[in-house]
Amino acid sequence: MVVVAPEERIEKLLGLLGLYEDDRIVYTSFDPVTVGRALGRRSILSPESIDFAAVDHVLIASFDVFQEYTDIFRQLSELQFSREKVTSIFQPHDTLLVFERLFSVPYRLNPGLLQAIIFNDCFERLNYAYGAILAVEQARRLSLPGVTLVETGVWTGRGLRNLCYWASALRYTFDLEVNVAGFDTGKGLPKCTDWRDHPELWQEGEMVMPDLNLLRSQLPPFCTLEIGDVAETAPRYLQKPNLSSQPIGFFALDVDLYTSSVDALKLLEGHPETLLPAVGVWVDDSYVNVMQNSFCGEALAIAEYNHRNHLRKIDMKKVRPNHASMLWHYCFAFAHIFDHPVRQGRRPSALIGFNHCDY
Ligand SMILES: C[S@@+](CC[C@H](N)C(=O)[O-])C[C@H]1O[C@@H](n2cnc3c(N)ncnc32)[C@H](O)[C@@H]1O
Repeated sequence: MVVVAPEERIEKLLGLLGLYEDDRIVYTSFDPVTVGRALGRRSILSPESIDFAAVDHVLIASFDVFQEYTDIFRQLSELQFSREKVTSIFQPHDTLLVFERLFSVPYRLNPGLLQAIIFNDCFERLNYAYGAILAVEQARRLSLPGVTLVETGVWTGRGLRNLCYWASALRYTFDLEVNVAGFDTGKGLPKCTDWRDHPELWQEGEMVMPDLNLLRSQLPPFCTLEIGDVAETAPRYLQKPNLSSQPIGFFALDVDLYTSSVDALKLLEGHPETLLPAVGVWVDDSYVNVMQNSFCGEALAIAEYNHRNHLRKIDMKKVRPNHASMLWHYCFAFAHIFDHPVRQGRRPSALIGFNHCDY
């Protein structure tokens, strides 16, 4: 295997997989400045010194900028290397399957390994990985057959596809039903109603989904796309007959506008059994832009949710205090569903020791 554009998190990953010293893995980079340097015990070789015809797989360990991947794919195809044999750190499940196949890493039914991989921040979009593994672990502790992970606001689908990669990894390791649902107008942002929607930041029709059919074809069967205004799709979704056996356990709030966020949060206002007792909520906008504040946008919608719901409260929480700080650690909350039978003490659970800093 060849790792292109190696970086620290790949070093950590190889260590966790027991491959830190494995000579079958070599590092290379298309960036001439990096070639010749060392990372851990491996030197970073020039691509010209590698016989790509003899390489069985390439792992791209780079930032999740699409343009950058495109450049790497172009450079690899110039070396006659097939795109089918490339995965990236954006694709945890596919990459771990390769390690299982090529290096006999015991990945299937190995929740401890996946937990360590997430704890050590080895792949992309740890906010999604973290929310997803907490949901699955909670479902397991409640002996539920499955769980649903929701993204409101899909746009290009990069977030949704990444959530699906994590869902696949969790299905494979926990042997649990993990479903995913993405909500989007398909037509970009609706019109701002007033100052609470941040008209100084957002324009109507911005962030149109580029190709709905292409995105649908890229999603696994356990993921649904709910297209339309979330004001209409959310109440419809809550009527899904099997939702209480796979309750919502992670919720990404990323529809930007205050008005859209109010409607998206209706997904956390259904029957108590359509939700886990504590739903992980990632709030995209908190603390990022100077203009964002508690009186507008997603934060205001959350405040109103809490005001409206006597027995449900979304509580922002600085998660993972035992990790080096990352921005998303400040953008996380839990929706506490106090009217859930578990929170009412009417159903047994095994929630002691379920600690947010262990993931
Ligand atoms: C910032 S983008 C989402 C990015 C995506 N979560 C990611 O991480 O890749 C916001 C999206 O929210 C969608 N949106 C905003 N208001 C909506 C509404 N009322 N109903 C459905 N979708 C909405 C827009 O179409 C837009 O594409």
